Amino acid sequence: MEDLKAHWDNVWQTKSHDSTSWYQEVPATSLRFFETVKLSNTAPLIDIGSGASKLIDGWLSQGFRDITALDISANAFVQSKLRLGVDADQVTFIEANVIDWQPERCYQLWHDRAVFHFLTDPDSRERYINTLTTALAPGAFFICGGFSTSGPQKCSGLEVQRYDPGRMAEVFAPWFEVLASENETHLTPARSEQHFLWSLFQRR
Ligand SMILES: C[S@@+](CC[C@H](N)C(=O)[O-])C[C@H]1O[C@@H](n2cnc3c(N)ncnc32)[C@H](O)[C@@H]1O
Repeated sequence: MEDLKAHWDNVWQTKSHDSTSWYQEVPATSLRFFETVKLSNTAPLIDIGSGASKLIDGWLSQGFRDITALDISANAFVQSKLRLGVDADQVTFIEANVIDWQPERCYQLWHDRAVFHFLTDPDSRERYINTLTTALAPGAFFICGGFSTSGPQKCSGLEVQRYDPGRMAEVFAPWFEVLASENETHLTPARSEQHFLWSLFQRR
């Protein structure tokens, strides 16, 4: 696990956000799914493996003020804090490996773009789901995006587990109902295409 943290510390220390393959100027699919669930702006939101994602900027600009960004590497937050300036004071930043993390409160929405797909073994996935289901009460939402079955086999040099909509729904079925599912082609800064699968779930 230390190796995993070292990997991400190194990525975030040596790369600028806009040179990473996962960079998005606007996290459009995340924001569109987010807007369909129509939460009040007091709703507690969490972005898992947030990195330096501009999703946080999107939530802030829509008036949300109970925002948590969690990442295994605090180096990621250096870039988002610089960009956000004083607005960063309105965000709670947590450095943790999501599969070891013990949430101290509940959230109304959990967003994950390209973290769950790194969990290639059943034990890690079970630990992720334990944390997720502890952090979300019935009725809360979960947005999950990762590589689809036609996406790359690796992300940031690490193996990933790719999903089709049926398999994704099956993994979370005991705890979550699928509300929507969508494919997205992400264009990396190096102009290569990556196929993502997005699912919006609601906690049973
Ligand atoms: C591919 S990047 C995606 C970043 C961000 N979600 C986005 O869409 O721009 C994966 C991010 O998840 C973080 N990460 C990877 N494994 C993690 C884990 N087990 N727990 C928490 N964060 C993790 C990495 O540091 C990195 O910031």
